[in-house]
Parts: sequence; C-alpha cells; structure tokens
Amino acid sequence: MTETVHTPRVFSGIQPTGNLTLGNYLGAVKRFVEMQDSGIETIYCMVDLHAITTWQDPADLKRATRELAAGFIASGLDPAKSILFNQSQVHAHAELAWVFNCVARMGWLNRMTQFKDKAGKNREAASVGLFAYPALMAADILVYHATHVPVGEDQKQHLELTRDIAMKFNNDFKTEFFPLTEPVIEGAATRVMSLRDGTKKMSKSDPSDMSRINLTDDAETIAKKIRKAKTDPDPLPDNLKDLDARPEARNLVNIYAGLSGESAEKVVADHAGAQFGQFKPELADLAVAKLAPISDEMSRLMADVAEIDKLLGLGADRAAAIANPILEKTYDVVGMVRSRQV
Ligand code: TYM
Repeated sequence: MTETVHTPRVFSGIQPTGNLTLGNYLGAVKRFVEMQDSGIETIYCMVDLHAITTWQDPADLKRATRELAAGFIASGLDPAKSILFNQSQVHAHAELAWVFNCVARMGWLNRMTQFKDKAGKNREAASVGLFAYPALMAADILVYHATHVPVGEDQKQHLELTRDIAMKFNNDFKTEFFPLTEPVIEGAATRVMSLRDGTKKMSKSDPSDMSRINLTDDAETIAKKIRKAKTDPDPLPDNLKDLDARPEARNLVNIYAGLSGESAEKVVADHAGAQFGQFKPELADLAVAKLAPISDEMSRLMADVAEIDKLLGLGADRAAAIANPILEKTYDVVGMVRSRQV
C-alpha cells in the first residue's frame, strides 16, 4: 500500500489564561510568525476550551482571549495570511475530541506529566477535562490534518500522544486518514526559565510577577525585572559548556539569543568575560527594543474589541471550512450514519 502524503499545514494553540509571557513569545509566537512568513498554510488558535479545564472567571476569560488575539497580531501574525480564531467557535474540535477520548487509553493519559503537575496532590479533585486535555489537543491538530506543530519543549509529551492517537486510529480503522504530526521545537529559547529560579520554567501561573516578563509590561518594568533577575557572581565564559552548571546565567544567554535571533554560542562568544552588571543592561535594552512595540500595539488593538471579535469570527469560518469535512469523514470511517446535507 502506498503511504498517504499529507500537504504541509501548521497548527498551534495557546491558552488564554492570564498574560502572554516571554516564554510563550520566544518558544511559540515568534516561531508562529516565522512559519507564517515562510509561506506554509498556518492556523493559530486561542484554546479557550483548554483554558476551562481549570477554573476561569468568565469575564477574565473573555478579556484574556481578546488580549491573546491582540498579542498574536501585534507580534506579526496577519489575519490575512494565517487563520486566527478561538477554539470554541469551531465545534469540530470538541466533537473530534470525543472520538479521540474513545481512542486514547487511560494508561496513556495517566502518564502525562502536565496533568500530574497541574492536578497536584489532590487528583480526585481535578476536572475530567484536565485529564482528557491531551485528547482535545490531538483533536485541535488532527481536525486540520496538520503536519507541523511549533511549540515549546514542555509540549513534547502531548505531541507524542497526538501521534499515538493518530496511529491507533489509523490501525483500528485500517486507514491512513490522520497524519503523524511532527513537533517543531526549535530555536535558542524552547524552554525559557523563571528569572527568579533557573531550574523552573517561566510561567504565567508563577505567583511572583518578577519571575516572568509579560508582553504587556512597559519598558521600565521589563528593564527592572532583568536588572533584578537572579544570577551568579562569575563573568560570562567564552563557551556554552561552561554554563551547564549555571542555569540562571544560561537562561539569560538563551533569552538574549532568542530575542536577537543569534545562536547562544555566538552570544557567549561576543560577551565572553562580561560581568552581569554589563550584560544585563544590554539584555534589557534588547528586550525593550523588541517587546515594547508589541506591548504598545496590543494596547492600541485592545481599544477596539469589536474589531478583534470580528476577526476571530472570520477566522473561525475559515477554520471550520477545513475542519468540518475532516470531522465528517472521521464519523464516516468510525461508522456513524451521516444523512444530513452539511
Ligand atoms: P500554553 O498555553 O501553556 O503555552 C503556549 C505555548 O508557549 C510555550 N511555552 C514556552 N516556551 C518556552 N519557554 C517557556 N517558559 C514556555 N512556556 C510556554 C508552550 O510550549 C506552547 O507552545 N497545551 C498547549 C496549548 C495547546 C496546543 C494545542 C498547542 C492546545 N492545543 C495544539 C499546540 C497544538 C498549552 O498549554 O500551551
């Protein structure tokens, strides 16, 4: 049997929960823009159905969804080039997720480290949605037959599960309907760490705002957070190997590389021997130069919420036009009678 070749298509999503961080930007959004500009078909989603797997205040969720849309556009995503929309407006995601709930095995989901981290000690009190989260994520991707998914390193396990689900579905139903998606985890900053603790991921849920840079921070706040970032007393070495045991220093080098577009090797070579008293102000200037225009543009876009909602609606129509036929075909393969004209 010849193998089905799926046309390249990029999909990725971000949860509208709180602020976009520098981690989201360097690990994901910046790469979304690069992929859009490389000419491949790109689909980017605000995953509001994933957001409610943990409690969200309804008014905050609406604000965060619009702010994420503004962040996407301010960072360079163009609604004329990429399909931008919020997940709940395309019902095929939730429907395919149900089918995948019946394909994925309890044992697979039990091994997901994000579930263990988020559920904490009291697993009995976690929502069923939080447990089934990765099956919905697989549906997000596979309902578009997406072949490439740009993400930060923390999503690797979920993408492996997406492949497992596609493979089991294809095996069970003797088909090659779903592609085996490739994760795209590339660049100098696939895992941006907390500014207060170089062993912890930078996260929007960290209680300390000083641990992260938010895309909505103004220039002064960005500079202050970098100035106060935890480091060590040694100067920068001339090679990356010597940063292996210095996670905070390594993190600042990675952030510099992610923002400047240079390799981490070049950043250490260029700053060899520099003390942090000298490196941090340079990094702060770079961060402000790259991020302040995004923050300004986000505020401008947020002044016209109706326009954002309109763009999300148009994006959802375009997304549904791709997703609905794939969902219909899936139902047919599974054995559901489809007798309505859709
Ligand atoms: P979320 O919303 O937690 O994060 C969005 C993206 O940002 C990346 N990221 C980071 N990258 C580098 N360093 C960090 N400190 C950092 N923090 C976050 C994440 O890896 C991610 O790429 N489950 C996903 C959302 C999702 C999704 C999808 C992604 C739902 N469906 C389908 C891809 C495809 C999540 O919670 O991402």
